[in-house]
Amino acid sequence: MIGTGYVGLVTGLCFCELGDDVVCIDIIDEKVDMVNAGNPPIFEKGLEELLRKHLAEGRFRASAEYDEVLQTDITFICVGTPTYEDGSLDLRYVKDAADDLGTLLRRKRTRHTVVVKSTVPPTTTEQFVAPILQKRSGKKVGKTIGLAMNPEFLREGSAIEDFLNPDRIIIGASDPKSMQVVRSLYESFDCPIIEVTPTTAEMIKVANNAALATRISMINEIGNVCKALGIDVRDVAKGIGMDARIGPAFLKAGAGFGGSCFPKDVKCFIAQAKHLGLEPWVMQSVIDVNEAQPLRLIALLEKHLKLRGKTIAVLGLAFKPETDDVRESRSFPVIELLLRKGAGVKVHDPKAMANFKQFMPDIHYSESAKACVRGADAVLIMTEWPEYADPKLYGDKLVIDGRGVVKTKNYEGICW
Ligand code: UGA
Repeated sequence: MIGTGYVGLVTGLCFCELGDDVVCIDIIDEKVDMVNAGNPPIFEKGLEELLRKHLAEGRFRASAEYDEVLQTDITFICVGTPTYEDGSLDLRYVKDAADDLGTLLRRKRTRHTVVVKSTVPPTTTEQFVAPILQKRSGKKVGKTIGLAMNPEFLREGSAIEDFLNPDRIIIGASDPKSMQVVRSLYESFDCPIIEVTPTTAEMIKVANNAALATRISMINEIGNVCKALGIDVRDVAKGIGMDARIGPAFLKAGAGFGGSCFPKDVKCFIAQAKHLGLEPWVMQSVIDVNEAQPLRLIALLEKHLKLRGKTIAVLGLAFKPETDDVRESRSFPVIELLLRKGAGVKVHDPKAMANFKQFMPDIHYSESAKACVRGADAVLIMTEWPEYADPKLYGDKLVIDGRGVVKTKNYEGICW
């Protein structure tokens, strides 16, 4: 695995569970040391246990030495792909990985298979990675170097479970041998394996996230109309979710989607469509709805009180429960607007306060939900942590609930 981030670590350790031997390579020495000491650099349910188990069994280790690749059969590229201002992706780490791998593979005598696991814009594997590998190694991709794209569909918080119980596996390979090598890794699974080209595999990944994000913006838009008509959108979601063609998942209306994937992948799709001279109307609207949605909480709040000089408690900073990840959290735009409108802000999150503080150091961080609510004029709920579900926490304080966590005496839901 090139990269000991979220994808590299989870994927690598899950391959150990399947019986493979894995080495995770990272250029940052401290990360390598942490991992080898049994301390994952990220929080993910079950990861530490899995790491310690496979370190002890000798199946897994991290290393800063790229040369280790030469002792392996398959290399997964699991590096980060930061976003540029226009939504397109900065592929510099993918390039570095392909450069280093290609250079090393010049020395390898047996066939080696390179698999792109990072989420990348369609065409990246075939048109960007393949030429670099060929140039650096002096070998032919598809002959002595195998190349494939194998996207992940892991949710933070249940990534290990998702890996070990997949709905399907997608393998994109342009030659039969690479397909067979990657397929063999998953032979103990009984889910469907879809075999496509690398470019199709890349699009399946991006389209999957685009489709899920679209459902969320759709139900949020329906929810806003429901709210205006006095309808509880949750009953509507239940009603439409029973249509087998629609299905019940990802119809939870609320303050919008965050995280490192949906906003990024939808924006990347938009950028690529525009680059191709196409107009991505639907996906643009998905983003527009998602940017407006959290601010509706403030509009609801302002129906009840003037914000200037008031203290508002914001419960929940993580982009979803069971993670400390705050990337694209909907709490950011909400808190920024509260501050702009002259309110004081107190916040709480069971896991994500340290991460949030790096971006917003100047608001008040409370040590408990109770302390956060105490003395506040109103409460906004932004993340559905179970501990926020106790109505006693709020007494008769005004609660504006962005996630459908609780029902209190003095209450408004965002879409119900
Ligand atoms: C998402 C996908 O679900 C994974 O399949 C994918 O592999 C991953 O992105 C990725 O590309 O790596 P993740 O970002 O961990 O996973 O989070 P989700 O559980 O999908 O939730 C994303 C956001 O949507 C959260 O902010 C959540 O609160 C929101 N959401 C989700 C809703 O507002 N309503 C819903 O019905 C579902």
